[in-house]
Amino acid sequence: MTALRAIRGMNDILPPDAGWWREIESRITRVLANYGYQEIRLPIVESTQVFSRSIGDTTDIVQKEMYTFTDRNGDSLTLRPEGTASCVRAVLENGLLQTPQRLFYMGPMFRHERPQKGRYRQFHQVGVEAFGMDGPDIDAEMILMTSQLWKALGLNQLRLEINTLGTPAVRAQYRDRLVEYFSDHLDQLDPDSLSRLTRNPMRILDSKNPALKALITNAPRLVDSLDDESTAHFLSVRAVLDAAQISYRVNPHLVRGLDYYSKTVFEWITDELGAQGTVCAGGRYDGLVEQMGGRPTPAVGFAMGIERLIELIPGRPEVRTDADLYVIGATVSEKPTALAAAETLRTAYPDLRTLCHCGAEGLKSQMKRADRSGALVAIIIGADEYAAGEVTLKPLRGQGEQCRVTREKMASALGPLVERTQEISPLTGVLAQSIRSIPGGN
Ligand code: HAM
Repeated sequence: MTALRAIRGMNDILPPDAGWWREIESRITRVLANYGYQEIRLPIVESTQVFSRSIGDTTDIVQKEMYTFTDRNGDSLTLRPEGTASCVRAVLENGLLQTPQRLFYMGPMFRHERPQKGRYRQFHQVGVEAFGMDGPDIDAEMILMTSQLWKALGLNQLRLEINTLGTPAVRAQYRDRLVEYFSDHLDQLDPDSLSRLTRNPMRILDSKNPALKALITNAPRLVDSLDDESTAHFLSVRAVLDAAQISYRVNPHLVRGLDYYSKTVFEWITDELGAQGTVCAGGRYDGLVEQMGGRPTPAVGFAMGIERLIELIPGRPEVRTDADLYVIGATVSEKPTALAAAETLRTAYPDLRTLCHCGAEGLKSQMKRADRSGALVAIIIGADEYAAGEVTLKPLRGQGEQCRVTREKMASALGPLVERTQEISPLTGVLAQSIRSIPGGN
């Protein structure tokens, strides 16, 4: 039989990495909550139209990257390639747009791209969307918030690029000028750009092909045909960034790969991940809510790729995987008492990891496993202990003394043996770090 394998580009996140992911997610959500964002949980599968009507028919995502299938009812469904369209569908469907909203979501997204380092077919985003605010202040505040996020994650190698895409009318005119310009230089375009020429000419500006660099540099610039409103909006965003001393580069060729943007767009980029250097990207999308059937509602948002962030975060701490307490019932006769004792200990010490040995091994091999588990103390119930209503506490680390106590006193007697400094992550209650200290230990 051939071995079963995960789908190419879709990864397992194993322990202890999963603990590290949880810690990163909790640091991120803490910053988002600090700015007043509330979590929204969205389905992973949506009607295909949710994406085809929003992301743009001519984008790479809709044209060739969506996981689309027909379900048993004959409906066309799609695994979400991004979260903005789902979020707009959800706020519309649930009538949340009566007042301004600051929302975030996180979870897996799916795109059938060619997998490589930093680019996967199932990847994870934290996405942020703000609805009902049309001023440049919210655009700027969002960028300030991303900057706080990098601080919380210990990232200092990211650079910010910003641009404005103007209003949809300005973009439509600009698109025509670009098609004209690139059509005059057809011989210089690579196959990718040729295919984009009619579908999505602004994406040619995004090309990473060095052979196209000069052609792109000399292309007409959107900034030269911007309307006054978009220019004023952009200048106000920049003024906030300047006042907050956030460094950035205005990149007139930053266009983004999804069609719904207007006015401000931005990306945080690193040079440390090769071609997949964009770790966070977003912008304003004032037309999308109306396009998806709602009243005109200004909106702005961004999403960051967790795989890319995790790759960059320095000093990845060891996530603890070992047990704290290991409960042993010497034979099958003591097993029920051992399981009950473990329950008592979990209630008394909810932040410790209490393992009760499961399986039919004898006392000696159970003791070996207890030792290998990294536990501080083994709680042993043999025939003698069972008969006397007692347990043996055997310190496995440091130099504490072995002792026998009644089952009633077990939890309190363990206290001095398992004293530790604990730092509980406030949002998730995850035991983020613990430092062992056993009386007499080192
Ligand atoms: P996006 O630029 O398509 O925007 O994706 C945002 C981020 O997701 C990227 O910068 C990258 O870090 C990560 N990402 C995208 N594709 C992959 C992949 N195949 N593998 C690993 N990471 C990936 C959006 O999705 C918009 N919804 C952002 C937004 C929210 N705009 C407004 N609101």
